[in-house]
Amino acid sequence: MISYNFYNPTKLVFGENTIEKIGELLSNVGSKKVLMIAGSGSIKKNNVYDITINSLRKNGIEWRECWGVRANPSLAKVREAIAIAKKEKVDAVLAVGGGSVIDTTKIVAAGVYADDIWQVFERKEKIKKALPIFTILTLSATASEMNCSAVISNDEENKKWGTGSPLLYPVASIIQPDVQNTLPWNQTVNGALDAMAHIMEYYFIGTNEETSIAVNEALLKTIIKSVEGLKVDAKDTISRANLAWAITLGLNGISGAGLKGGDWACHDMSHSISCMYPQIAHGGALGVIFPAWMKYVCDSNPQQFKRFAKNVLLTDDIESGIYELKQLLKSWNAATSLRELGVKEEDLRKLAEMTVSRGNIGKLSVLRLADVEKILEFAF
Ligand code: NZQ
Ligand code: ZN
Repeated sequence: MISYNFYNPTKLVFGENTIEKIGELLSNVGSKKVLMIAGSGSIKKNNVYDITINSLRKNGIEWRECWGVRANPSLAKVREAIAIAKKEKVDAVLAVGGGSVIDTTKIVAAGVYADDIWQVFERKEKIKKALPIFTILTLSATASEMNCSAVISNDEENKKWGTGSPLLYPVASIIQPDVQNTLPWNQTVNGALDAMAHIMEYYFIGTNEETSIAVNEALLKTIIKSVEGLKVDAKDTISRANLAWAITLGLNGISGAGLKGGDWACHDMSHSISCMYPQIAHGGALGVIFPAWMKYVCDSNPQQFKRFAKNVLLTDDIESGIYELKQLLKSWNAATSLRELGVKEEDLRKLAEMTVSRGNIGKLSVLRLADVEKILEFAF
């Protein structure tokens, strides 16, 4: 048995017509002026923006806006938003979008109080203070709406790195699943793949932590079932809702309880890929890397890989488990190779070097440069 703490202070407001509660949630903490941060405009097409600002107006909250957060968000945009937050003296920040918008908003909240926020990612400084963070989620994938992490790309230095602090938990997050009906199919799938990777990065390190292992199997099965439901009807709100909650639970602390901090090797590889190729979605890269990693490391914990094959994919052995997983992802139209994602073969070595630039990765099996290169070759 290993010891662990579970802590999650985020208030989660889930369900129909919940976005209109944002003004009230901000008022509850005494906010008078908020910086709203958003992406490239999807929230204007699905009415989320209008509902949000109507609610702010109704509750007498002033707001400023910062648009243009890209997928795999950049440090440059973070700095731009910090400057607005400081100039306008806002007392809270509000993310309206997916994980990229939420991560940017979290780092803006802390960046207002830091001399150079990148130093936190370099592990040379700690986050000491942050503005209260609020989020309206429009894409279930990262669970950033209910965790204390953020991942940002420093384009100048070729680094896509994460950071975390208890000060980065959102005060409150809203999930109104029906606003995800406007997601293109590939974004729904990328979100599911990201969450499956979060869960599996804990799961495969498991041995006898039965509660967490069984919860994780239930989450994986729910994600698969919900995506299958959405494949038949993209506007099936019940599947959307079940998918959204399973994804949030995938990385809000619940799925990792007792599971030794997880093995994040696949995430480390995926971050290098999206850093070198910002057009490649985080979840898309994970969907390709994960089966290759499984093949490479499964001998380190064969019982657990066998259990996954049996309980999640209803097949007999490790090899057929990996095969069935690949077939499933293929049936969702997910990419099945790095080549298909647009990665060039001559970049594999550089990607491997980027991945281990801060040291070897992984926990179930510690991976050095040559191992990472091999996995990338498997995935190519
Ligand atoms: O920019 P807009 O116009 O809003 O469009 C977005 C974006 O193009 C679109 N979208 C979002 N909601 C939509 C919608 N389109 C139609 N209808 C809607 N309802 O989707 C596109 C992708 O959005 P993005 O936020 O980039 O996706 P995701 O949520 O997958 O976030 C990925 C980022 O989060 C990081 C990833 O590395 C990546 O940078 N992660 C953050 C984590 C965390 N904070 O805990 C953990 C994860 O492992 C991950 O690393
Ligand atoms: Zn992820």
